[in-house]
Amino acid sequence: MRKAAYFGIEGLDRNLGKGVSYGSQIAVEGDSGIGKTVLAGEFIKEGLRCGDTCIYVACDEPPVAMREHLLSFKVGAPAYEEMDRLIFIDAYEESGSAEKYAFSDHRHLVKYYVLEKEVLRCYAGRRVRLVVDSLSTLLTMADTSEVLEFHRTRIKQLRKSGVLAMDIFVNGVLEPRVMTITNHLYNLIIKMSFTSSTYSSLRQLQVGKVKSQQFVSSRHIFTISPLYGIVVAADMGVGE
Ligand SMILES: Nc1ncnc2c1ncn2[C@@H]1O[C@H](COP(=O)(O)OP(=O)(O)O)[C@@H](O)[C@H]1O
Ligand SMILES: [Mg+2]
Repeated sequence: MRKAAYFGIEGLDRNLGKGVSYGSQIAVEGDSGIGKTVLAGEFIKEGLRCGDTCIYVACDEPPVAMREHLLSFKVGAPAYEEMDRLIFIDAYEESGSAEKYAFSDHRHLVKYYVLEKEVLRCYAGRRVRLVVDSLSTLLTMADTSEVLEFHRTRIKQLRKSGVLAMDIFVNGVLEPRVMTITNHLYNLIIKMSFTSSTYSSLRQLQVGKVKSQQFVSSRHIFTISPLYGIVVAADMGVGE
């Protein structure tokens, strides 16, 4: 069985070497509008293409936004949903969601943990990609100790189940101290940000890991194309 996964983004995958193994966790961090959801879409698109079952937890926009986004890249979400290869958890609607799986009680993080575990259990034995967009939204009501306890328990569980998880964090939602601790729990960290050049504002992403308290990474400039999605334009070398 294939053990490693890719993002489906050429310039990025090339730098991953043997890819990301199932059972790893990826943290994606960045400001609003930088392209985190587009990256999540690429990750799901690639997952569907190579036979994975993809679970998308929609927290910041309703599930229909991702359905439409995938359709705009010619990925027929409804067909995959019918085959049970693409599953949505609606964590956006406050009440009365029409989705099969929904989570609205944001004050009780443990309820989310239980739901996620339950959904994952339905797909045990498959290669699964899980995307939470964004996890920081689910954590806004929790205090620091609750957040850390949630991370530790959940990540241990995800690892055990062999799920490839992508957790998205919007910059500035969690306290910097909490974010630093959080980063240590992930195998791979993708930081997305705007960088200004002389003439314009560019998008960049840094892919890295925390190694002995330092973030070791490679930097890439990217654009968002309506046709191809995220296009990595150039390697910028090794960052700090
Ligand atoms: N299908 C698409 N084609 C082209 N641009 C897109 C598409 N989807 C989103 N964008 C643009 O990509 C940018 C990032 O969007 P998004 O990924 O939703 O940001 P984030 O999730 O980081 O807040 C936005 O400026 C948006 O207009
Ligand atoms: Mg988003």
